[in-house]
Amino acid sequence: MKFVLITGASTGIGYELAKIFAKEKYNLILVARNIEKLIEIREELQNLGVNIVIIKKDLSRPESPQELFNEIAEKNIEVDILINNAGFGLLGPFNELDINAQLEMIQLNITSLVQITYLFLPKMIEKRSGKIMNVASTAAFQPGPYMAIYYATKSFVLSFSEAIYAELKSKGITVTALCPGPTKTEFQKRAGMENINLERAKLLPYMSAEKVAQIGYEGLMKGKRVVIPGFLNKLGTKLVRLVPQTFVLNVIKKFNSRN
Ligand SMILES: NC(=O)c1ccc[n+]([C@@H]2O[C@H](COP(=O)([O-])OP(=O)(O)OC[C@H]3O[C@@H](n4cnc5c(N)ncnc54)[C@H](OP(=O)(O)O)[C@@H]3O)[C@@H](O)[C@H]2O)c1
Repeated sequence: MKFVLITGASTGIGYELAKIFAKEKYNLILVARNIEKLIEIREELQNLGVNIVIIKKDLSRPESPQELFNEIAEKNIEVDILINNAGFGLLGPFNELDINAQLEMIQLNITSLVQITYLFLPKMIEKRSGKIMNVASTAAFQPGPYMAIYYATKSFVLSFSEAIYAELKSKGITVTALCPGPTKTEFQKRAGMENINLERAKLLPYMSAEKVAQIGYEGLMKGKRVVIPGFLNKLGTKLVRLVPQTFVLNVIKKFNSRN
């Protein structure tokens, strides 16, 4: 049975992906900081007859990707599918948000993702087989005033993923960038987004994490380069490329402001 490694598997999209892969009879390596949650998930899913390895790791620490790789190698496990899903955002003016928290976001959303990909790739290249999914966002398609670092990290993830998709295609490996729009998870609370104007927030086309994970799973298995769940999200990513950038910046600035 194949092994899939999912970072950020304790809640939200990562947890829903774990459920799908367990039902599809993949062994799981689930990574997050909340070990109690991972223990609960292991108990919930192991009756599906799959092996579940849980690893407590704070991926915003620079040494974590190498530690994670070593711990998996020590268990003689080869990762067939890698899902870089762990990530967070922060809402607020760049100059007012805590700089260390913003640098931590870059470390988690970008640096860890790159390093984990780099560490697990050689074995996939050797076997000429492997699948990688990096969770970006519809935020990747334009800059985001009042979430400047978050949007920029997701642009990086999309650009990086598409570039290595092209590099690795001939080596039997696919790379998929999953770009969800607003999704009902812990993300909004963690990003401090509760204070956004509620009337405006209601306009967002929220999807369930379950739906996003299912669409992501199907795109990943087909080896698609970019997967944008939902018609409105797909349309939005096309429109922002057609209208003037100033207009896009003003709309997002207004949307992300607290009044
Ligand atoms: N929700 C949305 O609207 C939305 C839209 C587009 C893209 N996304 C992206 O989707 C991905 C999953 O987010 P989600 O919406 O499912 O949010 P979520 O419910 O907050 O889940 C985030 C996951 O990442 C883990 N995580 C956070 N910080 C971590 C760290 N330092 N080290 C290891 N794991 C960490 C969390 O686990 P622990 O807290 O246990 O560590 C959790 O399992 C993220 O990359 C996010 O940017 C979300």
